[in-house]
Amino acid sequence: MAPKIVVILVFLISLFESSSNYYAVGASYNVARYGARGDGRTDSTKAFLRAWSLACSSTARGGATLYVPRGSFLIKPVVFSGPCRSSRVVFQMDAAASLVAPTNYWELGNTGTWILFIRVTGLLVYGGTVDARANSYWQCRRSGKSCTAGSRSVALYWCNNAVVRGLRMMNSQIMHMAIDNCKNVAVRNVYIRAPSGSPNTDGIHIEASTGVTITASSIMTGDDCISIGEGAKNLWIERIACGPGHGISIGSLGAYANEDGVQNVTVTNSVFTKTQNGVRIKTWARASNSFVTNISFRNLIMKNVGNPIMIDQKYCPSNQGCPGQNSGVKISRVTYTNIRGTSTAPIAMNFFCSPSNPCWGLKVRDIRLTYFKTAAKSYCANAGGSSSGVVIPRSCF
Ligand SMILES: *[C@@H]1O[C@H](CO)[C@@H](O)[C@H](O)[C@H]1NC(C)=O
Ligand SMILES: *[C@@H]1O[C@H](CO)[C@@H](O)[C@H](O)[C@H]1NC(C)=O
Repeated sequence: MAPKIVVILVFLISLFESSSNYYAVGASYNVARYGARGDGRTDSTKAFLRAWSLACSSTARGGATLYVPRGSFLIKPVVFSGPCRSSRVVFQMDAAASLVAPTNYWELGNTGTWILFIRVTGLLVYGGTVDARANSYWQCRRSGKSCTAGSRSVALYWCNNAVVRGLRMMNSQIMHMAIDNCKNVAVRNVYIRAPSGSPNTDGIHIEASTGVTITASSIMTGDDCISIGEGAKNLWIERIACGPGHGISIGSLGAYANEDGVQNVTVTNSVFTKTQNGVRIKTWARASNSFVTNISFRNLIMKNVGNPIMIDQKYCPSNQGCPGQNSGVKISRVTYTNIRGTSTAPIAMNFFCSPSNPCWGLKVRDIRLTYFKTAAKSYCANAGGSSSGVVIPRSCF
């Protein structure tokens, strides 16, 4: 054969292979086939569970897909559990598919989660929209009446090697997405929306997990865009549009004495708009063995942000249960590089560290934050570190 033809053949075979790989998702289970109705009213929970159990137990090569066609599917609290026989389970929603919660918030009940994936390895979730429709729940919370504790909308617990992509999460009762006890989770292109006044509606919460990346996402909520809890390690957060909301927070940590620490977190190339805080580390003013170390905040833009740079180790709501007001959480090696924009509070850089466990190894470099059009200030208590480049306001180390 002429070399040219061989090249073309190899090219065609490789095309064929890659396209067949792409379509060979093994088995596919459309929830409509098991009785799900996209009319927004019919309870489709059982149909989803049936399709899940078939996808999860599939032995098809290349894994299995649960497919949600266009339409609005009413779903009650549901647990999609593993371990699965299938090496890869794809939860694929049509772009015009949505999952909606019952409008009566009591029906999300006291389960703590609405849509829970648990112990699934190799999970891929492609959105679609999930809408918890929590308006009346927030009203109950605001009125001071007794309400349920609230449910997280999408939760991944003990899920390794997961991908969540293109999912829209709206109007959650409490946090929109929770990643807990997972390893290697990539969250990409998610879109999260709840009104700025909605209570405790964090965007994404990460806890006791390693290797989580969150990229290219837009988050507007009534609480933290992203909150990072105990035992979070090796996180990468990039290209987030955050706000309104409370910003990106490590903490609150140290509510209990024996919490695991937080280490190796990077937040970069992100924009904060009208958030209550920018990047914050927050700990209870209580005894604790916990720590926060090796954190990098860099290339961030702050647009009218309350506390753009903040460490707060005196958290103690109602001044209850914080004898001596000292936090045991040890904070070290936190760097702030290339952070610019406007603060709506006069103190743009606030390091309020623990009297018994001063912060050390804080580094600020190339900071330019103003208080509206005037100079902002910085404040340090028990904070040690260094400054380089042009830092405005001047650091107080
Ligand atoms: C820190 O986390 C990143 C991922 O965000 C990872 O690539 C890197 O290896 C981690 N560093 C260490 C020392 O574990
Ligand atoms: C933090 O980073 C330093 C320097 O890169 C490294 O030596 C240290 O082991 C890291 N500590 C933790 C707890 O990751």
